[in-house]
Amino acid sequence: MGTSSSARRNRFPLILLATVATGLGVYLFTLFFAARLSEGPHTSFLKIPAVALWALLAYFTVRLVNAALFDFAFRIRRGYEAPTLVRNIFTLVIFTVLFVLIFKWFYSEINLGALFTTSAIFGVIIGLALQDTLGNFFSGISLQADRPFQIGDVIVVSQQKHTGVVEGITWRAIKIRTFQNHIVLVSNSNAAKEAIEVAPRDNLNARLIFFSTVYTDSPAKTIHVVREAVRDADNVSEKITPIVRIRNLGESSIEWEIKYWLEDYAKYNDTDALVRQRTWYALRRNGLTFAFPTRTLHLERKVTARPTTAEDEIADRLSAVDVFAPLSTDELRQLAMATVGHVFAPGETLIRAGDEGSSMFVVHNGRVQVQLTESGKSRPVAVLSEGNFFGEMALFTGEPRTASVVALEETEVLEIGHAAMKHLFETNPSLVESISWTIAERRVGLAASAEQATPNSLAESAGLLTSIKRFFGLR
Ligand code: CMP
Repeated sequence: MGTSSSARRNRFPLILLATVATGLGVYLFTLFFAARLSEGPHTSFLKIPAVALWALLAYFTVRLVNAALFDFAFRIRRGYEAPTLVRNIFTLVIFTVLFVLIFKWFYSEINLGALFTTSAIFGVIIGLALQDTLGNFFSGISLQADRPFQIGDVIVVSQQKHTGVVEGITWRAIKIRTFQNHIVLVSNSNAAKEAIEVAPRDNLNARLIFFSTVYTDSPAKTIHVVREAVRDADNVSEKITPIVRIRNLGESSIEWEIKYWLEDYAKYNDTDALVRQRTWYALRRNGLTFAFPTRTLHLERKVTARPTTAEDEIADRLSAVDVFAPLSTDELRQLAMATVGHVFAPGETLIRAGDEGSSMFVVHNGRVQVQLTESGKSRPVAVLSEGNFFGEMALFTGEPRTASVVALEETEVLEIGHAAMKHLFETNPSLVESISWTIAERRVGLAASAEQATPNSLAESAGLLTSIKRFFGLR
């Protein structure tokens, strides 16, 4: 669109030049042949180039007025480009009127009206030959007048056969760019007969996504879990909260539908997929189960909240975490048993700044990013990968989460709760100290990122040590 309109504007000086040149030609022609035109035997021969020159001048003038009117005035007043069809009709009508006037001026003796009325048979022949073209043309005009959709809207024509973004409406057809990046031309007369579904560009359009869960899962929990997972996916509008509701109580499953609204409807394929993906991860993390045919239900029930990882593997992972280095093998195994595994999709938020939190997490697989939100924009603070931990600040100080943590790729984390940590602190006093060091250092990192005054990490950690001990009821 942008390139074609700028090309059109570039043509403006060219049309202007052509108009002036033809005007000059008409002037010179009249100057030289005016006397001869009014008398003499050459009259009828000279009239032909005269009519041609005048007609050319009329044509360029109409093009010039068209360009001035639609490229500048229309765009400025209405804010969008005038449709090609309207521009062409304008040119055709004005030019025809001018041509008839010129013709009459030179050949006043020929009766044009009679010429048209006597050629009725000719008219019928032309009419039949142009039946389709004229049909398209008039349907095009009525489409323009009605304006049921605009360029950039997503439309569905011919009972779901053609779906895509409207790129233009011409004499003959509506041009749609499909989601496979193909162009489909639907002739105007067909479009006029069909039901067309329009998803306007500046409208909050909704989509429905379906899934099923087993009967033993709590509907209230499912609604909460899925809604929260869907609402912060990309391109899901924040203006309306997604709706998760039971569609049907099926033979072997509860059938659900998610209704969500999109920012950009043209990207619904990607967003539908993302919503389904988020739903999968959210159900899995929360111990909810997709429904399968009844015969496989029994097997699927064996899935536990923790993903495939074995205890030893978790103990191994924990032993590689620097602050847990002083723990004995037994303590590591106990800690491993107390952890809960969760899997997050790329882009999902694990921790939201400002929330309450009473557990910390160790990255088992994958990577996460620690982010601060400043004036609506997120600013990365750190990237944590396998063996790193996060969420310790809120767990050990009882304060709200200091930052948000978002998965950069599919990430499996091990959650360690308050009770498990308290138990470890009682037997490993040095653990409190090493964790308070990490917290103090991270606070320095946060302050530097937020461009606040940098706290003194030594004094910080001394103060922290006391408050952590107090919070956990240790001496
Ligand atoms: P918490 O405040 O519970 O939640 C957000 C977490 O982000 C925080 O705990 C830390 O674990 C982590 N975090 C905050 N600041 C940093 C930092 N500078 N470097 C690494 N991780 C951080």
